[in-house]
Amino acid sequence: MSHLTICPADRPEAATITSDPAVMADWLGEAGVLFERWTTEQPLAADASQEAVIAAYQGSVNRLIDRYEFRSVDVVSLRPDHPQKDELRSRFLNEHTHAEYEVRFFVEGRGLFYLHPDERVFMVLCEQGDLLSVPAGMKHWFDMGENPHFKCIRLFTNPDGWIADVTGDPIAARFPNFDQHLASLA
Ligand SMILES: [Fe+2]
Repeated sequence: MSHLTICPADRPEAATITSDPAVMADWLGEAGVLFERWTTEQPLAADASQEAVIAAYQGSVNRLIDRYEFRSVDVVSLRPDHPQKDELRSRFLNEHTHAEYEVRFFVEGRGLFYLHPDERVFMVLCEQGDLLSVPAGMKHWFDMGENPHFKCIRLFTNPDGWIADVTGDPIAARFPNFDQHLASLA
């Protein structure tokens, strides 16, 4: 189940947690982050093509394209048997920013976003059906866990702008990782 955990950046243990999607959308919205729950508009096979995945959520995708002027859409997926899973995981484990929105819709699986908009950190455990948009310039990091499993629709206004600029702040090391966070919610 999707969860939002908010805590002071210097005290990860002092957490406020909700799993109510409407409350998650409210709290994230106040920090400038878009969170939505989407339902599929047509049945989707596990091995569906990129085109079929996007078509299954076409109405919601088009709404975002119209609202934010996204220029391209693609689908990315990762499974626990991927030979470069550790390298791919490590790429986003340190706090960074992008010059571009980071928009992810989870068609399958899950992942943990850590957003650092102010003196707080928002840990957003995204699962199937969740749309999260991290604003350009917002400090954040992402953990897909030791055994990554997700399929996501990504929307870009400019794919070239989607490069991670590392902040150099070691804050991520003070926080529970994906697997530890999941265990704490169990
Ligand atoms: Fe990122």
